[in-house]
Amino acid sequence: MKKSPVGTLLLHIAFALAAVSSPAADDGTAPNRLVIHADQGKEKINRNIYGHFSEHLGRCIYEGIWVGEDSPIPNTRGIRNDIVAALKRIKIPLLRWPGGCFADEYHWKDGIGPKDARPTMINTHWGGVTENNHFGTHEFLDLCAQLGCEPYLCGNVGSGAVLEMQQWVEYITFDGVSPMAELRKANGHPDPWKLKYFGIGNENWGCGGNMSAEYYADQYLRYATYVRNFAGNTIFKIACGPNRDDYHWTEVLMQRCARRMNGLALHFYCGTGKKSRSATEFDEGDWFHNLKTALRMEELVTKHSEIMDRFDPDKKVGLMVDEWGAWHAVEPGTNKGFLYQQNSLRDALAAGLTLNIFNRHCDRVRMANIAQVINVLQAMILTDKERITLTPTYHVFEMFVPHHDAIRLPDELTTADYSIGGEKIPALNASASRDAAGKIHITLCNLDPNRPAPIECELRGAKASRVSGRVLTAPEITAHNTFDQPERVRPVAFDGARPSANGFSATLPPRSVVALEIQP
Ligand code: AHR
Repeated sequence: MKKSPVGTLLLHIAFALAAVSSPAADDGTAPNRLVIHADQGKEKINRNIYGHFSEHLGRCIYEGIWVGEDSPIPNTRGIRNDIVAALKRIKIPLLRWPGGCFADEYHWKDGIGPKDARPTMINTHWGGVTENNHFGTHEFLDLCAQLGCEPYLCGNVGSGAVLEMQQWVEYITFDGVSPMAELRKANGHPDPWKLKYFGIGNENWGCGGNMSAEYYADQYLRYATYVRNFAGNTIFKIACGPNRDDYHWTEVLMQRCARRMNGLALHFYCGTGKKSRSATEFDEGDWFHNLKTALRMEELVTKHSEIMDRFDPDKKVGLMVDEWGAWHAVEPGTNKGFLYQQNSLRDALAAGLTLNIFNRHCDRVRMANIAQVINVLQAMILTDKERITLTPTYHVFEMFVPHHDAIRLPDELTTADYSIGGEKIPALNASASRDAAGKIHITLCNLDPNRPAPIECELRGAKASRVSGRVLTAPEITAHNTFDQPERVRPVAFDGARPSANGFSATLPPRSVVALEIQP
């Protein structure tokens, strides 16, 4: 039977309302149900959503990535081999550098040429330590080449000149004869590099110059004008975007600059840092609070996207969440300016739910960069001299790899609530995609630390002949990996899912991230 467009629309609206508002029963025990529209799906989940961020902050660059050529720690041209190998396993697509707040104080010419002749500077934002500039443009681009990932540079608007930014891009990408290209050649790199992603400043509403949206919009247009495309290298320009729910900033930037930008950044951190609570010593109230805050990403992405839709209905400009993650109190006994924190199962759940949100908004969210890759905030890897530990968050990034560049499949989730102290959040959260080989991948988080979650999944337009998966969980909510016990939290095979008549059924353990692969 053929339906009229209006009839179809009404049906869709009725279905959407039923699905979205299918309330959990008052006691929060509504049956969990997931419908995956495997017969639909048009947008690609940009692998850059799984991007990372490295700043000259604490032990991220020095010790974490760069140990120097003479280090006893195995390295390639000064860059740690163990870190490169581990990040390649999560198929790191993109790395942002040199900051963060550091970017708006960074003068790139201080970081080129012979290392012993490079000037030092004070890292005023992060511990007031002396920066020796031994890790600069050549070293960062070498790191990206070793990782096989795209570099994403952030230029200095706060304290740098337009000429400085213009010359940085010329130095890296110009393939003819020019002052900057000659300087690059003299420094041992005859060929230009390819550079796509370039940020015009960082947090210019705060550490990047305390500007108003209107003032920054003018600065953006001025600086961006001189970020040139040389010799087939096309720069994707990313404007400094809003802090959290600063919708005015988005409105002003989109109204004035949308035609001259490719991406607008958004920064949002969850975490418990302000309450000075430890990253590993917390109770269920802290667990709930952190995950509830992390879930706010859904609202932020939705509302900023709505504003962007008004000025850019064709979605040409990407929303780039180029800083996100959990910001806790620093590890006891460490420098407060170094932002070194441990990473627990709670952080794994925050990462999983956030990545599910990004996947579901991949029509607008084209890039995201968790802060930060090594030894800072919600890190993938912690280092202690020659030892490294993979964090629970690292394992989530590894489990989500099948979503990279896959086609997002629309889903509708009905979930019970997880409540504590009169407050509640949805217990479950999910996203789904189909990869190039036709397999369906579903990632689910059960935020409830106490109750398993049975779930029925209907696959529309596909059959599940085989369901396999992996699960990340641990006996305690505070579980984390240490240098002495590096495998306390790691993914293991999941056998709690079975094909059913129209999809599959599964039971998700409490406090878990589950990644399923469906063989049609
Ligand atoms: O990631 C740490 C800091 O957080 C960054 O330098 C800054 O951009 C943000 O405020």
